[in-house]
Amino acid sequence: MAGVSLVSLVINLLVANLFLDIAALRADVEPTNVSGSVLPVDPRRGESLRFDGIGALSAGGTSPLLQRYDPTHASQILDYLFKPSFGASLQMLKVEIGGDSLAGCGAESSHMHTDNVSRVDYSTGYEWWLMVEAKKRNPDIKLYGLPWSFPGWLGTKSPYANPQLTAQYIVKWLEGARHIYNLTIDYIGVWNERPSNSTYVQVLRSAMDAAGFKQTQIVAKDGGADICNSMATDKAYADAVDVIGLHYPSDFSNFSLCHSFNKPFWASEESSSYDDANGAACWARVINSHWVLQQMTSSIMWNLVGSYYHGTNWYAESMMTADQPWSGHYWVSPVIWATAHVTQFTKVGWRYLKNRAGSGLLPLGGYYVTWVDPDGPDFTIVAVKISYEHAPCIRPHLPRFNTSAETVTFELTASMGHIQSLQVWYSNFEDGPPHTLFEKQANVAVVNGKVNLHIPVGGYFTLSSLKSGEKGSFPNEKTSAPNLPLPYKESFDADQISGTAGYFADQIGIFEVHAASSQAGAHKNVMRQMVPQTPIAWQGWGDTGPLTVLGMREWQDVTVSIDFYVSEELVVHAMPCVATRSDQKWLYAVALCVNGTGWTLSNRGPQLQADNTPGNPPATSIYQSGPLPAGVSIAGWHAITLTTITTQASGTLDGHVLFANASIGNADTGFVGVGMNYWYPVEFDNLEVDAAGPNWEPTAPCHSSTAGDTLGSRNCTTNGLSSPDQEFDLLATYQLRHAPSGLCATATALAASATITLEECDATNSNQTFFNTYSNIRNMVTAIEAVNGLVLSGRYSNGTVSLQTRKATPGCWTEWAYFPNTRQLRNQYTRDDAAGYPQCLSTCPQ
Ligand SMILES: *[C@@H]1O[C@H](CO)[C@@H](O)[C@H](O)[C@H]1NC(C)=O
Ligand SMILES: *[C@@H]1O[C@H](CO)[C@@H](O)[C@H](O)[C@H]1NC(C)=O
Ligand SMILES: *[C@@H]1O[C@H](CO)[C@@H](O)[C@H](O)[C@H]1NC(C)=O
Ligand SMILES: *[C@@H]1O[C@H](CO)[C@@H](O)[C@H](O)[C@H]1NC(C)=O
Ligand SMILES: *[C@@H]1O[C@H](CO)[C@@H](O)[C@H](O)[C@H]1NC(C)=O
Ligand SMILES: *[C@@H]1O[C@H](CO)[C@@H](O)[C@H](O)[C@H]1NC(C)=O
Ligand SMILES: *[C@@H]1O[C@H](CO)[C@@H](O)[C@H](O)[C@H]1NC(C)=O
Ligand SMILES: *[C@@H]1O[C@H](CO)[C@@H](O)[C@H](O)[C@H]1NC(C)=O
Ligand SMILES: *[C@@H]1O[C@H](CO)[C@@H](O)[C@H](O)[C@H]1NC(C)=O
Ligand SMILES: *[C@@H]1O[C@H](CO)[C@@H](O)[C@H](O)[C@H]1NC(C)=O
Repeated sequence: MAGVSLVSLVINLLVANLFLDIAALRADVEPTNVSGSVLPVDPRRGESLRFDGIGALSAGGTSPLLQRYDPTHASQILDYLFKPSFGASLQMLKVEIGGDSLAGCGAESSHMHTDNVSRVDYSTGYEWWLMVEAKKRNPDIKLYGLPWSFPGWLGTKSPYANPQLTAQYIVKWLEGARHIYNLTIDYIGVWNERPSNSTYVQVLRSAMDAAGFKQTQIVAKDGGADICNSMATDKAYADAVDVIGLHYPSDFSNFSLCHSFNKPFWASEESSSYDDANGAACWARVINSHWVLQQMTSSIMWNLVGSYYHGTNWYAESMMTADQPWSGHYWVSPVIWATAHVTQFTKVGWRYLKNRAGSGLLPLGGYYVTWVDPDGPDFTIVAVKISYEHAPCIRPHLPRFNTSAETVTFELTASMGHIQSLQVWYSNFEDGPPHTLFEKQANVAVVNGKVNLHIPVGGYFTLSSLKSGEKGSFPNEKTSAPNLPLPYKESFDADQISGTAGYFADQIGIFEVHAASSQAGAHKNVMRQMVPQTPIAWQGWGDTGPLTVLGMREWQDVTVSIDFYVSEELVVHAMPCVATRSDQKWLYAVALCVNGTGWTLSNRGPQLQADNTPGNPPATSIYQSGPLPAGVSIAGWHAITLTTITTQASGTLDGHVLFANASIGNADTGFVGVGMNYWYPVEFDNLEVDAAGPNWEPTAPCHSSTAGDTLGSRNCTTNGLSSPDQEFDLLATYQLRHAPSGLCATATALAASATITLEECDATNSNQTFFNTYSNIRNMVTAIEAVNGLVLSGRYSNGTVSLQTRKATPGCWTEWAYFPNTRQLRNQYTRDDAAGYPQCLSTCPQ
């Protein structure tokens, strides 16, 4: 075909010129200067840049539950993420280089907990496994590693004190990838969202070159654009950096300095938005606007898969969610399909067409982008039009804009127009629910080189000359069962050595499975805390000792027992603990801790002290304390039990009652936690968690809800039980739908004190619009706002829920947190002592 060779020729010329004049491209951020709605697609109209791929990040403790799925369902989830022409079909996988410290949703294990090179362990964590599985499905996938934190042996506050040492630590990780897993790491980062350092980056470059990793490129700095100022005054630094990677870059910032280096420019972390249709709309917009407005050639979503508990930050800000290994259920989110629109029809190494030559702003709002295959005739055009209400990601601020539906004509250059029809894939994140997600439509004809396309608001189109593309699916999806089934027993004996333990998700410290130090009492595999000293943190961990959690954020009345092992030399210092009702960092919890002389029952975990000073729970947090029973020592193996039922707790050690019926707060709910007061290698075995007390019976509905019912609030049901009066869905249309009745919350008037009733859902009824920051609301309390800015408010005294001004009136709350597993809208996320017992939106007000 004549056309083919012409396109290839033109594009090959472009490739040769690729890096000559990138800066000139940057001028083209103004609206497309084309006549009306005719949009030329013509590689000859300007230079193009190499497409570096769309990726996602497993990092910050986001995947601990994934490996716990049975092999069939784990494989299905991995197929949705990585298999070409199936689901998200990711082109890049970025992973955390575990650094033993809390980084958002959890802590990831380092390959070197200590400086002892004979104890490098390439079996820790889940990222190696994930990279191997990704490569298995797509050998072309690019791999990228980045540390969030570093083990404490590399320094106290900064990893740059000894740049050689830190560079060797990273080289060790690269060697593990190559020699143990046969993985080539394409990109390596510096320190996530923390200062970079010129000397270190240069030393890292030399160290990687010397160790045979010349091909591994350095991305800097996985944070703000200040890296560009630093590089501008430091040529050696700039020379050592291959790719400029910014986090959550605003398309409306002036990045001219960053562009001036003529290096690939990426959004190396992006989205952090919840995985509903709004999260998909954010992602669909930004992966395309980043090219049109800022010539970014890669976008990487945090995070890859939500395989972490609700109640550890930041729930389900993920391409898909898979947090129920016990049921096999997972959620294939609209974000998967937003990704597929680009990834299934492009390849890393294809070229973007520049603005006015195939990419640009749609005249009535939105973006279009064209990629071309430099070695063949194929090309793909994407057009996306998201309205302002659905466009925001969690950050950065998005300036206001207008969108309306329109018909555009893509005018293909003669060589491209030779193709007679293009396949069409369509999503709409603003229709429905249900939304149209990645549906193949009839091919569109190319007539005289022209393709007409009507683009509604919310619409997302892919037009491609490729014939491939598939909306993958598996039969027999498991139904959701978010409650970890009780009783739960774990001996760790079936777990992989050095891997994560059971359904535990590490928060502070690292708890790996290893052979027991002492097999006395028939202990085989145990869970051992592995971090020996304070790491170089990415974030603070709340000043509490090491902690790993499991279960549900809604649990309250449970009994938990576990065996612990303390070696003789640790007896004077170590204080093993078991907790219920714990938040992510046991700042709120009911914790029972024992040391060499006594026990404490407290409403939070033990304080983490300076090096090697034993930490105790703060005096103000203690409910009760006492001496150990006569003749009991904590050296060796012991069994500890804690039971919490509403306002009462009881605890035992080796069968001795430590306390019974101790008074505790009733407002807390949370995870089962296991931990200690400092970085000690305490071991645990034989965990058993069970329901306790009477509050585990599902409550009957007060009545079946009908249109006209008034909404109010009442005590939230606990223990992860769903109560039909409290089950609401937060729709991407910003409606609050009562799940059992299918009716929607409706303001009786858009005025202060207006009550809320249930009515037939109607997305065009603005009285049903309750805006919320759809990502934050699952992770904190936040306002739920009517179209006129009044907010949903509850009254403590009598359960009235109404619209009020945002400034809380006395006796009312104006912020809510959504608990997705029970579908509750609660007035507190962590325990709020002033607010008392948690209140939930309900069709049966108190
Ligand atoms: C390093 O680890 C090896 C293997 O576990 C051990 O034999 C050796 O004693 C350790 N060296 C130091 C200095 O701790
Ligand atoms: C890099 O780190 C070293 C060691 O901490 C420090 O002395 C130096 O000032 C840092 N350089 C920059 C540019 O921050
Ligand atoms: C290592 O991976 C490469 C492709 O990246 C493959 O060609 C080679 O066969 C693999 N080697 C082994 C030993 O699996
Ligand atoms: C962007 O910044 C550069 C350098 O700081 C400046 O020269 C240029 O005028 C700025 N562009 C805009 C559009 O403000
Ligand atoms: C959007 O449209 C409205 C109504 O036409 C207009 O008042 C407003 O200025 C527009 N906003 C922007 C950002 O263009
Ligand atoms: C051990 O626990 C008891 C009871 O909570 C406390 O009084 C004591 O200070 C602790 N001992 C050490 C060494 O921390
Ligand atoms: C704890 O309370 C229960 C129920 O109120 C009672 O039966 C039991 O005797 C109490 N135990 C102790 C040790 O006080
Ligand atoms: C709500 O729960 C608290 C704490 O258990 C209890 O004191 C109160 O009576 C409950 N309120 C209602 C209306 O059930
Ligand atoms: C919606 O609010 C308006 C304005 O306050 C009010 O007039 C109307 O009755 C409400 N509609 C419904 C269906 O409640
Ligand atoms: C709830 O209390 C408020 C403030 O005292 C009062 O205005 C309202 O009428 C009460 N509502 C009900 C249903 O009792």
